[in-house]
Amino acid sequence: MNYTDALNLMHEYIKNEVLRRHIYAVETAMGAYARKYGEDEEKWAIVGVLHDFDYEMYPIIPDHPLKGSEILKSKGYPEDIRDAILGHTSFSNVPRVSQMAKVLYACDELCGFISAVAVIRPNKILDLEVSSVKKKLKDKSFAKNVSREDIDLGMKELGVSHEEHIRFVIEAMKVDSGRLGLNP
Ligand SMILES: [Fe+2]
Ligand SMILES: [Fe+2]
Repeated sequence: MNYTDALNLMHEYIKNEVLRRHIYAVETAMGAYARKYGEDEEKWAIVGVLHDFDYEMYPIIPDHPLKGSEILKSKGYPEDIRDAILGHTSFSNVPRVSQMAKVLYACDELCGFISAVAVIRPNKILDLEVSSVKKKLKDKSFAKNVSREDIDLGMKELGVSHEEHIRFVIEAMKVDSGRLGLNP
């Protein structure tokens, strides 16, 4: 069970490049947080890579992520990885107990939102400021399918401020901007 296996599995199931980029963003944020907290970077990256791997095949909740979790179980993925992934949707009723699960939930919607803000800017993520993201979060007509409530709850559960969490995720995503399609 390693990162390359997880990445290959995701690529097998997810063909849409936009969705892949979302998954890479979450993977990158997870890896950065693992380093920050002194946790297992490879494991956290695997959780990021696999959190939406079943989404193209099962886009309806709760099939996503329940069906995917069954596939992961059959492949021998451990419970802590599967629980963290199940916890990223409230519908699966799996509580976010581990720090890994809390970070995944706190990063998932926010990564999508930051990408949405960055992609329409001339310099994309290169010079994106926290204030621009905060401003767009208040603009309910922007990326209205991204749940502000989920983003707020994720930060609350993780015990991080809007300012520090948004800054941390932006900086993590900047490092991986090429793969995320967010270079100018
Ligand atoms: Fe998801
Ligand atoms: Fe996601």
